[in-house]
Amino acid sequence: MNPIKHVAIIMDGNGRWGLKYKNSRNAGHKAGLKTVEKIIKETLRQKIKFLTLYAFSTENWKRPQKEISFLFSLLENFLIKRINELNKQKIKLKIIGIKNFSKKLNRLLSISENKTFKNRELQINLALNYGSKSEILNAVKVMLKKKDRVSEKNFTKYLHTTNIPDPDILIRTGNTKRLSNFLLWQLAYTEIFFEKKLWPDFNEKDYNKILKKFQIIKRNYGNI
Ligand code: FPP
Repeated sequence: MNPIKHVAIIMDGNGRWGLKYKNSRNAGHKAGLKTVEKIIKETLRQKIKFLTLYAFSTENWKRPQKEISFLFSLLENFLIKRINELNKQKIKLKIIGIKNFSKKLNRLLSISENKTFKNRELQINLALNYGSKSEILNAVKVMLKKKDRVSEKNFTKYLHTTNIPDPDILIRTGNTKRLSNFLLWQLAYTEIFFEKKLWPDFNEKDYNKILKKFQIIKRNYGNI
């Protein structure tokens, strides 16, 4: 059986869910946060060490300001309410992406990262203002500036995901089959699962079905 160290998720479908059931995209984001909580709990239970969640891409700035503000206020409230509990559960929070939000949110993110830095039970990588192409370009620039030898191993040191194993599994909910500028380098050998359900409808049972399917896949890495 394949061990599972790292699951990455593109949590797609909040907006559609919100419009369908509550006539409001933001209501979908609120419901999506409940799914985040469920999946964190199940990931802990399954003793998986890394969970990466795509919460806000560099392209998401194109959305209406009202939706962006709502998403960030959800995140702020989540951190204020839950960071102590996450810490107690020995969860480490790491932001991948560029932290250029409001002063308040930047501070809250840094405090949350610092507080949970030593935790080892589960590392949650929250991709915020994250874009894979700019991550890769930036890594190239730094590597060259430092006159480091050009190699795969050296290159990965300059990505946001340094010291994090590549994802074993990528899940994308919302019935859409694309990568949306997410972890393009890190997903080279990841098993990808596209899920029809919208993120707020996704639950532990769906998650476990995917984990089980993954465990019996023959992973060849180019070999036979
Ligand atoms: C994609 O759905 C989802 C997002 C851009 C935001 C994800 C946010 C959450 C799950 C809630 C907040 C999370 C945290 C960690 C505080 P979409 O809006 O693109 O859906 P659509 O494709 O139906 O429009």
